[in-house]
Amino acid sequence: MSVSIRTVNLKHGLILAPMAGVTDRAYRNICRRHGAELVVTEMVSAKALHYNDASSFELASLHPNEENSFVQLFGHEPEILSEAVLKICKDREGTIQPLGIDVNMGCPMKKIVNNGEGSALLKDHKLVGHIVRKLRDTTELPLTVKIRIGWDSSSINAVEVARIAAENGADAITVHGRTREQMYCTEVNIDAIAAVKEAVDIPVIGNGGIFTADDAMIMFDRTKCDGIMLGRGTMGNPWLFEEISARIEGKQYVLPDIDVRLNEAMTQVEEMVSDKGEHTGVLEARRHLSYYIKNTKGASSARHRLNFANSLEELYCIGNEFINR
Ligand SMILES: Cc1cc2nc3c(=O)[nH]c(=O)nc-3n(C[C@H](O)[C@H](O)[C@H](O)COP(=O)(O)O)c2cc1C
Repeated sequence: MSVSIRTVNLKHGLILAPMAGVTDRAYRNICRRHGAELVVTEMVSAKALHYNDASSFELASLHPNEENSFVQLFGHEPEILSEAVLKICKDREGTIQPLGIDVNMGCPMKKIVNNGEGSALLKDHKLVGHIVRKLRDTTELPLTVKIRIGWDSSSINAVEVARIAAENGADAITVHGRTREQMYCTEVNIDAIAAVKEAVDIPVIGNGGIFTADDAMIMFDRTKCDGIMLGRGTMGNPWLFEEISARIEGKQYVLPDIDVRLNEAMTQVEEMVSDKGEHTGVLEARRHLSYYIKNTKGASSARHRLNFANSLEELYCIGNEFINR
């Protein structure tokens, strides 16, 4: 299993999903260290970049060690999206260019779809074509599109949307195997992803519900997809990438002990604090650390204490006590 997305070659096609509020630089780094071959930023508003919003530029900024990162944009106006691509590709001190651009056509959130963006685009085939064509004409970078299988169960149209994206120059398509109506929790429609793979010649990335190496193999086997994108399964478990790689290569995999895992998690937290300052970094780290200790002995009392931690020092204390208990 290997996949080429225009100029980008991936050995096993293991990609970290974009997750707003989760896949910041520190998160991308820990996933990268553990086998994510490609990572995608949190979604960035093209419109906000149009208005030169500083925090959106920050979201789209990649540090020099982040060569394998795509930036994901959302929007519905081809011109504005095109302008956003040009803006984020401009040289900015201390940052590097994205390896590729991904367009969000799957976000289910009300405030996004009410604007005609995210998964609302699935209802407008023509506009999908215009957006992809415009971006294709804008950049030589690898260009990918991330969709859901349709708006609701009566309008499953991933095959049509994928064909339009491919015809207009997309280099790969990621299919999250749920409708907009299904949000995140129901079972993934593997057959709908398989149908897209059959229908288009560009690489298809399967996404949704991959929490274990078994899930990953089912996605590969049943859809014949070229790569997989992992989202929530990596929360607290970035080692999932390594485990899946080992499975593909027929090797044994042993998950590191909790003390090793927590030490690594603290490196992630330190990076968060360095990027966002202690206040925001620690608040956001609480949730990440809760995932790292999930299903281990003593997790529930540690989680309770995490909820009240306000400094990096407190997080170290909780982590050390957890390891030495
Ligand atoms: C907290 C959270 C934030 C997300 N943010 C984005 C986003 O910014 N862009 C996007 O395309 N998908 C986003 N998604 C969807 C994921 O990329 C992925 O498609 C979805 O979670 C299904 O994969 P999973 O079952 O492996 O988590 C988000 C999902 C979650 C849980």
